[in-house]
Amino acid sequence: MNDQYTEITRLAGGLAHEIKNPLSTIRLNIELLSEDLELIDSPQSRRAQQRIKVVQSECRRLESLLDDFLRFTKADNPELVPGNVNDEIREVIEFFRPKAVELHIEVIAYLASDLPTVLIDRGLFHQALINLLLNALQAMPAGGQLMISTRAGGNEIIIDLIDTGVGMDEKTLANLYAAFYSTKKVGSGLGLATTQKIIKSHGGNISVQSEPNCGTKFTIMLPSLPRLAEK
Ligand SMILES: Nc1ncnc2c1ncn2[C@@H]1O[C@H](COP(=O)(O)OP(=O)(O)O)[C@@H](O)[C@H]1O
Ligand SMILES: [Mg+2]
Repeated sequence: MNDQYTEITRLAGGLAHEIKNPLSTIRLNIELLSEDLELIDSPQSRRAQQRIKVVQSECRRLESLLDDFLRFTKADNPELVPGNVNDEIREVIEFFRPKAVELHIEVIAYLASDLPTVLIDRGLFHQALINLLLNALQAMPAGGQLMISTRAGGNEIIIDLIDTGVGMDEKTLANLYAAFYSTKKVGSGLGLATTQKIIKSHGGNISVQSEPNCGTKFTIMLPSLPRLAEK
């Protein structure tokens, strides 16, 4: 990666961080203001409460955007240690299970028992998976199936994530890894940009196949340890 890009990312990350602090002060004070107003029962006070709700929700939206952006800027600096991808996948699935049950989504995992060790940054790898699972869940508002499988390739391990959700059209497929590209009302559009950055910084690759109204399949390839050792 070139120095200029690294410098701009560092600056943007610094700016995002600087905005976060005053923003959380604003949100906290608005909350206190709202509590004070609750003690006054008048039409003016009720109107003010409505406006406060808008400010609060916009503050939360900005905070979540800044968090997503900070995660994006930190995505290509992994601290790699030997690990087993199956363990990480199991953990992330357990994290999502309650939400999946609530949405009537069946999560099926086929995890190969002979999976070779890979070098991963656990935190970043979790983030990459979380972004993919979150998208899959959001693509199946009326329920469906999410299948996650792992297998060993030659010098790599392969992870497939298949959902039976809404799928993607050509335009979305052409843009989905671009930062800030989103087809959602409240999406930051940073999820897949972050995931791709994380997978590439692990020496891996991510690809996608999708059909509108049929579903989507993401495939992640990560180099396994013997190949890294030969380098
Ligand atoms: N599993 C999926 N099924 C259907 N569309 C998807 C899926 N994953 C991603 N997308 C599309 O890719 C876009 C970009 O995804 P992402 O970068 O995570 O941003 P966001 O989720 O904030 O919109 C989404 O808005 C959506 O249109
Ligand atoms: Mg997303």
